[in-house]
Order: sequence, then structure tokens, then C-alpha cells
Amino acid sequence: MLSNAFFLGKGGVGKTTLSAAFALDLARSGKRVLIASLDPAHNLGDVYGVALGDRPTGVERGLDALEVDLGAWVDRYLEESRSELKATYAYAGTLNLDRFFDIMKYSPGTEEYAVLWAIEHIHCELSAEYDVVVFDTPPTALSLRFLAMPAISRLWIAELSKLRERILEKRQSITRINPASPVASSCVDKADDKVYGRLGAIRERLAGLQGLFGKESYVAVVINPDQLSVSEALRIKEELDRIEVPLSGLCVNKRGVSAAEWSLDSRLSETPAFDFDFLPGGLRDREDLRTIDCGSLVADFMATAPEGTL
Ligand SMILES: Nc1ncnc2c1ncn2[C@@H]1O[C@H](COP(=O)(O)OP(=O)(O)OP(=O)(O)O)[C@@H](O)[C@H]1O
Ligand SMILES: [Mg+2]
Repeated sequence: MLSNAFFLGKGGVGKTTLSAAFALDLARSGKRVLIASLDPAHNLGDVYGVALGDRPTGVERGLDALEVDLGAWVDRYLEESRSELKATYAYAGTLNLDRFFDIMKYSPGTEEYAVLWAIEHIHCELSAEYDVVVFDTPPTALSLRFLAMPAISRLWIAELSKLRERILEKRQSITRINPASPVASSCVDKADDKVYGRLGAIRERLAGLQGLFGKESYVAVVINPDQLSVSEALRIKEELDRIEVPLSGLCVNKRGVSAAEWSLDSRLSETPAFDFDFLPGGLRDREDLRTIDCGSLVADFMATAPEGTL
């Protein structure tokens, strides 16, 4: 059994509903479950009828839930970067770093990193208390960006590490030629270089997250019986293939909601599909979630072992 589950998909298809029902089903079968909402527009608390915050709150026996405070994680990420930069580059104190970080708050990528570090925190600090962690995700665009972030950033880090190695080599050459050069007093060795060490540490963190997404997670895409959500699912599948994260299951939610023609693309036919009927009475409280039958999905999740352990 994998220890994490992610529900991805287009806006409004039922990610929160199915992840909440799935987590409830697992908890009622005796597992210790944490469900975390990563959506900046949280509504997991509304679905369970419980006020949630950034720390795990008991929903019922075996089930805790939290809503990640993305704003706080953005601030934490910026603060970490600020103090790291100050510690690594003492001379940077002369630059106006505060203004730089004020702008960085709104720069592309900041929110994605904040989501990543929130997931890492849940994985490293909280998950030991649970058998399974379920993630309710924001609509496709942001989710694909944070899932791809480790793979993309690792390419950057690899290039930056090479550049740093070249700088250190140049310093060594200068020191050999002229031991009296001011360069000789700076760090010339990879093993002692703070910047090189930091790059290595970031690479490790990103590798851990990539492993979490690619090898320790059941990634499900939720669709509705309509062509638009099938097209979106295809785009998600292509992106997941590109970043080497396997697509584990397809949840066809709201079956019977309309009589419109639709069909699953053949490129999705190898992925196990699970049907969920449209409930005409709607879903008003936690007990209504029980009318969603997650049995086959839960069985598939339990049967899926991490790569190489079967
Ligand atoms: N099987 C179902 N039958 C009836 N209503 C459903 C079903 N699944 C979801 N809904 C309803 O559809 C609406 C959207 O569901 P939900 O909030 O779970 O989607 P979402 O994918 O999480 O949306 P968002 O992208 O906004 O986070 C909600 O009102 C929910 O109650
Ligand atoms: Mg949602």
C-alpha cells in the first residue's frame, strides 16, 4: 500500500468530495488517516462540517484534517530564503534585500515552492502518526506546477552546482599561481564551500519530494462524464508522464449527471477507472459522503505497492 494519495482534476469535478469520501472510508476501515487541503480556496472543513486550521484537527475516530495556510507558508519560505542569503553572503547586507523579498512574494514560482514545503512538512513532521495522507489539491494549473517543481528545479540546481564547481576551480588555479592573492583566503574547496553545500541540500530535498510524488503516492485524476474534463485529464496524464509520476487511477465522478455524449480517450484506457454516480440530492453533510461508494478505489489503493516491492 502507498502512503499518500493525491486527487487532481479540473475545477469543480469533485476532487474535494472524493478525497473527503476516500479518506473517511479508509478511516472507517481502521486506518489512521490525515487529509490535507492544498487548495488556497479551502472548503474541506465545509464538506466535513468541522472548522479546520493549519494543524491536524480530529474529524472522527481515525481521521484528522487540516487546511494548509498557503499565505503563512509563502512568508515562511521567504523568511528562510532571506536568512539563508544573509548567512551565506555576509556582504549582501549592503544590498536592499527587504525590497527584493517584498517583490519575490509575488514572483512566479513562490506559491508552488510554498506548497512543496508544506507537503514536505506534512510528510516529515506529521505523517509518522498516520497510515495514509490524502491530499485534496487545487485545480489543475497550480497542482501540475508544484508537482513538476522538483523535476524542473533539480535541472536548475544541477546547472548551478556545475557553475559553482567552475568558480571553485578558478579560485584554486588563482591560489596556485599567486598564494598572496585575496582569493586564496576565500573558500576554494567543494567540501568546505557553503554555497555548494546549500545547493546539495536543496537537491536532496527536491529528490525527496520527487520520490514522494513518483514512488510513494497514488495519483488519481477526477473527471466528469464530459469531453472537457477528459481533455484536461489527458493533459494531466501527459504532464505526469513527462515528470515521471505514474497515474494510478481515474475517478469518473457524477456519472449520469447529463445525457451528453462523451467517451474516454484510448490513451487513458490503461489506467484503472472507478465510477461514482451523480447524487441528485447533493451532498450536505459528512454522512452524505458515505453514500459515495469508494470500495473499489480503496481496494485498488491498498493493492498498489511502491515500485519494486511487489
Ligand atoms: N457525485 C456527486 N454527486 C452530486 N454532487 C456532487 C458529486 N460530486 C461532487 N458534487 C458537488 O459538486 C460540487 C463541486 O465538488 P467539489 O467541491 O468536490 O469539486 P472540486 O473539484 O474540489 O472543486 P474545486 O476545483 O473548486 O476545488 C460540490 O457542490 C459537490 O457537492
Ligand atoms: Mg476542491
